[in-house]
Amino acid sequence: MGSPTSFLLTIATLVVSVLADISVNLRFDFAPVAVTYPSTTEEVAAVVSCTSESLQIVARSGGHSYIANGLGGKNGSLVIDLSNMTRVDVDASSGTATIETGNRLGDVAFALNNQGRALPHGTCTYVGIGGHVSGGGFGFTSRMWGLTLDTVQSMTVVLANGTIVEPSSSSESDLFWAMRGAASSFGIITSIDAETFPAPSFATVYAYNWQMNYSDAAAALTQFQDFVTTDIPPEFGAEINLGKGDSEGTVSLELTGGWYGDSIDTLQSVLDPFLQSMPPVDGQFSGNGTYIDSVQILGDGVVNTKAAGPDKTDTFYAKSLMTPEEQPITLDAFEAYMKYLAYEGYNSETNWFMQFELYGGTNSFINSINVDSTAFATRSALFTVQLYASSSNYEPPYPEDGFTFLDGAADALTSTMGDGWDYGAYVNYADDQLENEYYLYYKSHYPRLVALKSQYDPTGVFDFPLSIQ
Ligand SMILES: Cc1cc2nc3c(=O)[nH]c(=O)nc-3n(C[C@H](O)[C@H](O)[C@H](O)COP(=O)(O)OP(=O)(O)OC[C@H]3O[C@@H](n4cnc5c(N)ncnc54)[C@H](O)[C@@H]3O)c2cc1C
Ligand SMILES: *[C@@H]1O[C@H](CO)[C@@H](O)[C@H](O)[C@H]1NC(C)=O
Ligand SMILES: *[C@@H]1O[C@H](CO)[C@@H](O)[C@H](O)[C@H]1NC(C)=O
Ligand SMILES: *[C@@H]1O[C@H](CO)[C@@H](O)[C@H](O)[C@H]1NC(C)=O
Ligand SMILES: *[C@@H]1O[C@H](CO)[C@@H](O)[C@H](O)[C@H]1NC(C)=O
Ligand SMILES: *[C@@H]1O[C@H](CO)[C@@H](O)[C@H](O)[C@H]1NC(C)=O
Repeated sequence: MGSPTSFLLTIATLVVSVLADISVNLRFDFAPVAVTYPSTTEEVAAVVSCTSESLQIVARSGGHSYIANGLGGKNGSLVIDLSNMTRVDVDASSGTATIETGNRLGDVAFALNNQGRALPHGTCTYVGIGGHVSGGGFGFTSRMWGLTLDTVQSMTVVLANGTIVEPSSSSESDLFWAMRGAASSFGIITSIDAETFPAPSFATVYAYNWQMNYSDAAAALTQFQDFVTTDIPPEFGAEINLGKGDSEGTVSLELTGGWYGDSIDTLQSVLDPFLQSMPPVDGQFSGNGTYIDSVQILGDGVVNTKAAGPDKTDTFYAKSLMTPEEQPITLDAFEAYMKYLAYEGYNSETNWFMQFELYGGTNSFINSINVDSTAFATRSALFTVQLYASSSNYEPPYPEDGFTFLDGAADALTSTMGDGWDYGAYVNYADDQLENEYYLYYKSHYPRLVALKSQYDPTGVFDFPLSIQ
């Protein structure tokens, strides 16, 4: 294969778009050399075979990469868009679902729910299953069922040389390990075979909201940290959301999540020890009690993404911190951090939020899995903290203040905790400004990933910002 022109002729049977697509994050403006829309694994393999000598290739599932890696993360990549591959089949006897990677999370949830089944995944229903499963896949059912990648039993993958393989624990098991945590660096997943679970017979989305000064907010997070490590059931999914307060010196604090136990009464008795330590407020409970309605509410009203049209764009910078459960955040560190949000955050021009997503705590299935059984490197996080700031009108240009504000917020926690604090970062919240990124994302798994990369993709066909080197 010589030039991009000759490959366009070779794959003329596929729909090829040479228009520059836009990314969900308008902070980035990348022009791929072309976007192809294959309909089968064989067509994906054909595109890879005839282009991989001359071009770098990325898969695009839902296009929700934070740093536009679905467009290649730079100019000049070939994008293989999987949106024409939307099969979802459930084997009624085993409950295993075969899911093609052109599906968005909402469409997967809807198709599974029609068979009375579900799997764990994130809240935004527009996120693509392909990128999501590659790096993790956290949602409020994850403490009960694991990350999306933990449900995968086997997958169909197109390698850099165009070969189609089906890694599983019994075949290509090294590749199967790497594909669950760092897939995008190794191949293009065209479908996954995933374990599913009976859709919970009851579900509710709950929320409690407070306005607090920074010292009370720091105490509240410390109490929440104690509460979740004392005795909570797996059906309890939660996050704490922090945002700009009503006045300088304060923050808004929300406890929200999904509950998949038998009733709201049971949820309230679970939450009681924490709520007793907080100023009294009424909880809000949303939904009609069905699991699929909880998915729809968490997805801002959208399950069927095709009927709803494209997702909103944003102009943002985001970071993540995976906090070690063994080394809880101290009251001092929470105070430094909350004070920063209550003053710098109050005065920031950006629209920001910070989420403490509960990965760990007692009875977490995520953390019960042996850390070395998949490439996903952090099976000891209490929280994955997402720090996120959009430009004031969600449009470009992105203000310099956004970078300094978020970096300062992360630093308020990490510098107060000190050098021995072994935190990590979440691959699916890709951060183009992160330092020490390979350690933070892949921890002790990085050397094995590098060795496998040189075996499966020696010429760097699947290279993009933050890919395994
Ligand atoms: C609004 C929003 C909400 C989110 N909420 C959550 C959440 O609740 N929980 C959570 O865990 N994460 C969440 N995320 C992060 C999300 O999981 C990642 O951004 C994910 O990578 C997006 O996948 P995608 O297929 O939509 O993106 P894409 O941009 O299509 O792909 C992302 C990366 O994965 C690669 N990739 C895509 N498809 C494949 C494939 N089939 N095979 C191999 N590599 C592939 C791409 O090349 C790219 O590098 C959210 C993101 C956004 C924008
Ligand atoms: C990438 O392409 C876009 C759109 O053509 C262009 O605006 C931008 O400057 C290019 N970026 C680089 C780094 O070349
Ligand atoms: C594939 O997707 C493209 C772009 O969305 C569309 O134009 C085309 O009709 C689709 N092809 C098939 C076979 O579905
Ligand atoms: C925060 O409010 C509490 C009362 O809820 C008060 O005791 C405390 O002094 C206040 N702290 C600051 C820093 O304002
Ligand atoms: C509950 O909500 C779902 C999704 O919004 C809807 O399909 C279903 O009909 C509702 N069920 C009841 C019993 O109200
Ligand atoms: C393609 O790459 C795989 C993984 O490195 C290797 O096992 C296989 O032999 C290669 N196939 C060809 C045709 O080179």
